[in-house]
Amino acid sequence: MDQLRPFIGGNWKMNLHLDQARDLARALIENLQQLHHADVVICPAFPYLAQVGVIIAESTIRLGAQDFYHQSNGAFTGEVSLSMLADVGADVVLVGHSERRHVLGESDATVNEKVLAALDADFDVILCVGETGEQRAQNHTEKIICGQLLRGLANVSPEQLSHVTIAYEPVWAIGTGNTATPNDAQNAHQLLRHTLKDQIAQGNAAPAVRIQYGGSVKPDNAVELIACEDVDGFLVGGASLNVDDFSQIVKATVS
Ligand code: 13P
Repeated sequence: MDQLRPFIGGNWKMNLHLDQARDLARALIENLQQLHHADVVICPAFPYLAQVGVIIAESTIRLGAQDFYHQSNGAFTGEVSLSMLADVGADVVLVGHSERRHVLGESDATVNEKVLAALDADFDVILCVGETGEQRAQNHTEKIICGQLLRGLANVSPEQLSHVTIAYEPVWAIGTGNTATPNDAQNAHQLLRHTLKDQIAQGNAAPAVRIQYGGSVKPDNAVELIACEDVDGFLVGGASLNVDDFSQIVKATVS
């Protein structure tokens, strides 16, 4: 298959305060301005989306949100809707991040509601899947990640897939420094791609869905991971908080 255009996400999680978020956004624009061969999205915490959005508005860096609520408005105290995110310039959302699944208790059904709502609202979706260390030790990786993929994408049409990116984020690799080996990442990505093609696109020409790897991606492992045939980019946590590290990771995908 032809190489897909790399897509790199910076998931800032619940980190950085306003000044730091603004400085990081400005520095990224500076560092990545000559870069035209990759798509980049940054996902600040909710309170700073608007201000970071203003800073990156004229750049090629896109604004993403880490979460949202699938209903459009109403009595949902503490929640944020997609139209509110659109108001501040976001057009990408993360769905089903492992911290939302495992810390905040999101189910596959909730993940699916969010995927459908986001696609309906013309957002691009990054759907995260990944097995825990325990599930991996029990050889359940394939069952877990394919199950999360299929339940997360239930009732998504083959056409809508062009607005979906999958992030394979093995939970045991997130924030631990234990990156998946290129071989492990490639095997998981290939499985996800085949599953997408066979079960969601139902054998039709599947739109080119990009599959990001996430879990302790750093400048020194990005090169070998992106060399894998089915790794089309990264979803980066810790290293996305450092302008040099994140810029190097982005540049590794296009060199
Ligand atoms: P780390 O890069 O810190 O392991 O986090 C990965 C992640 O969860 C990105 O969404």
